[in-house]
Amino acid sequence: MLKLCVCVSGGGTNLQAIIDRIADGSITDTKIVRVISNNADAYALTRAGDAGIDAVCISPKSYEDRAAFHEALLSAVDEAAPDLIVLAGFLVVIPEEMIRRYRNRIINIHPSLIPAFCGKGYYGLKVHEEALKRGVKVTGATVHFVDEGTDTGPIILQKAVAIQDGDTPQVLQKRVMEEAEWQIMPKAIDLIAHDKVRVENGVTRILA
Ligand code: GAR
Repeated sequence: MLKLCVCVSGGGTNLQAIIDRIADGSITDTKIVRVISNNADAYALTRAGDAGIDAVCISPKSYEDRAAFHEALLSAVDEAAPDLIVLAGFLVVIPEEMIRRYRNRIINIHPSLIPAFCGKGYYGLKVHEEALKRGVKVTGATVHFVDEGTDTGPIILQKAVAIQDGDTPQVLQKRVMEEAEWQIMPKAIDLIAHDKVRVENGVTRILA
């Protein structure tokens, strides 16, 4: 049984997709043991509560400095003893100690085809604004392992989404979520639950 700790900051639609795919049997041998939010107002916490999942808020506002916040965050993760940490719209820079301790056991969803529109400052709507500004015809989403860089870890799955005439950042964000994010995040988790993802020289190999 793959035990997940899901970290969230906002609406939690990716968390919901994971909950739903576990419920309908698309993801098997997997259980969410804890949801952690850095934001007390995150609707994702309500989603977790509704699904009967242990949910905690670790807000930087409650700690005197970044180091104390990082320590509390890491303790909340360790307590849950997860096999995999899932960053599902978690807008916090992950402490290096956490990356070291959970090497190749942290995955993130990013709303573009990495290496396009990623890195420092690229999150949420901003990613879609930049994609539309640049006039790309195809965008998408990426699930990747987390390393010390920003969006630089080994790529697990990607899915392309076509840009359409008249797209606004909001419309595009919704399409990327529906057609890509909510598909590839659950799929990546199911692959990892069944030991089908190998990392070799910084690149993943998906076993058939
Ligand atoms: C998602 O679009 C996710 O890809 C993005 O935040 C949104 C969270 O939505 N993450 C990033 O931009 C990370 N760089 P959700 O709370 O509804 O899942």
